[in-house]
Amino acid sequence: MGWPYVGETTQLYSSKNPNVFFARKRNKYGPIFKTHILGCPCVMVSSPEAAKFVLVTQAHLFKPTFPASKERMLGPQAIFFQQGDYHAHLRRLVSRAFSPEAIRGSVPAIEAIALRSLGSWEDLQVNTFQEMKTLETDPSVGVVAQYALNVALLSIFGEEEMQYIEELKQCYLTLEKGYNSMPVNLPGTLFHKAMKARKRLGAIVAHIISARRERERGSDLLGSFMDGREALTDDQIADNAIGVIFAARDTTASVLTWMVKFLGDNPAVLKAVTEEHAEIAREKALSGEPLSWADTRRMRMTGRVIQETMRVASILSFTFREAVEDVEYQGETSINFARARALVVCGSAAPYCAVPLGVQQCAACLPAHELARKGRAPNRTGIDQLELATHLDSLSSVRAGYLIPKGWKVLPLFRNIHHNPDHFPSPEKFDPSRFEVAPKPNTFMPFGNGTHSCPGNELAKLEMLVLCHHLATKYRWSTSKSESGVQFGPFALPINGLPMTFTRKDKNKA
Ligand code: HEM
Ligand SMILES: *[C@@H]1O[C@H](CO)[C@@H](O)[C@H](O)[C@H]1NC(C)=O
Repeated sequence: MGWPYVGETTQLYSSKNPNVFFARKRNKYGPIFKTHILGCPCVMVSSPEAAKFVLVTQAHLFKPTFPASKERMLGPQAIFFQQGDYHAHLRRLVSRAFSPEAIRGSVPAIEAIALRSLGSWEDLQVNTFQEMKTLETDPSVGVVAQYALNVALLSIFGEEEMQYIEELKQCYLTLEKGYNSMPVNLPGTLFHKAMKARKRLGAIVAHIISARRERERGSDLLGSFMDGREALTDDQIADNAIGVIFAARDTTASVLTWMVKFLGDNPAVLKAVTEEHAEIAREKALSGEPLSWADTRRMRMTGRVIQETMRVASILSFTFREAVEDVEYQGETSINFARARALVVCGSAAPYCAVPLGVQQCAACLPAHELARKGRAPNRTGIDQLELATHLDSLSSVRAGYLIPKGWKVLPLFRNIHHNPDHFPSPEKFDPSRFEVAPKPNTFMPFGNGTHSCPGNELAKLEMLVLCHHLATKYRWSTSKSESGVQFGPFALPINGLPMTFTRKDKNKA
């Protein structure tokens, strides 16, 4: 579960790696191409320039788009679904609560959660992903490690609302179970239970809000939502609090799982990371102080490991937008028109892409655009194919443009961009040193870009640095050798969630 829309696109995930699916298309059709998902025409975007166009410079022409059932379940007023003024307002409140200034003071609390989580793993064969995210008490583990979730709850509700937290977790779990089920609201169905849990979650959040009204505001997300003239309604707060748990938990847990795997698979990198943390740990032992924000700013090597983990894993393979009007996109390069011709002419089976605009006055191009607007392939409808093809062939040096008709879905393909060998040589190789040089704009967007980019990115990075600090200095771990591979469900994850054994390094001394 986790990311709101992905459950609808199982076709892309079914059994094989979506990377292969997209790479094949990209090679055939260039950086922008059209395909269908569940019957909707989709424009796939896999160049940095086009991603920037969709996400940043022309973001107002592309609205976020989600299936209605997901919207209902998460809460229709949650930030993901919004555009315009209400979105900007919400973003201000969310960004303020997760800014470096707001979260720097929570390092010791996050460290305490990390230590608690790690303590519960010792000497047990655990499933790393489940541990990183889970709510369920696994009897073999005993104590539950819920690192990502607990940090999310801390950042939303602060440390005071603990009496409600257990029930909140239980409801959340039920909600999660129903999230990707068939949206049939009949008694007994997972969906029905989820909708009930969702209602209960709203009630719990309302309790927490009224308790909070008695006290000081606080600098956590709830405090930000309740602040003065900018304050949201209770419903808006509930939708957004639950939305943030969704956005924060599985994402961070997946990246952490990959990080554990990549460090385990790359001893030289692990050694360098461990040295970086050992140095800081020595100083901390001398001073007796908990980890601080300033300490985390010194974890440069680990920072690169996190970046490279997010690049290789690209847990959010793509995101969704929808064109709110007909949009013309001028391509960045002169495209290969032999290829474009294939796109336009190739017919119903192969996608023909958002129609290259070519030269607008051309008699052949114009009707093709009309058809694209209606979502139909031109060759079904009596355009003179030969004329069109000849025309396109004559344009080889012209800059190409594309028409994206209103209502079409547009998918910026993060994973594809992150694995482009032009920007990241030997893209499948895990090599944190590539981030010693800053990546070019819009070639590396693990947190998206533009108006809807991730406002939780500083918290996510902080959380990963803190966990890594204790993991690297105190633990050894080994993965079961037989396990390698990726599953997409919907986030990219090591197969079976990476079962492994953690042992304390000082075990024998004790
Ligand atoms: C490593 C962990 C994370 C990754 C990789 C990640 C990635 C992303 C991406 C790519 C987007 C943009 C999606 C789009 O443009 O459609 C996004 C949005 C968002 N993320 Fe994260 N995220 C992570 C952790 C978090 C955390 C910890 C929080 C909260 C504390 C959070 C809160 C949000 C919210 C609220 C949005 C929606 C913003 C909007 O629509 O304006 N994320 N995230
Ligand atoms: C987001 O887009 C802006 C404008 O193109 C660019 O300067 C910035 O580097 C981009 N961010 C990322 C993470 O690529």
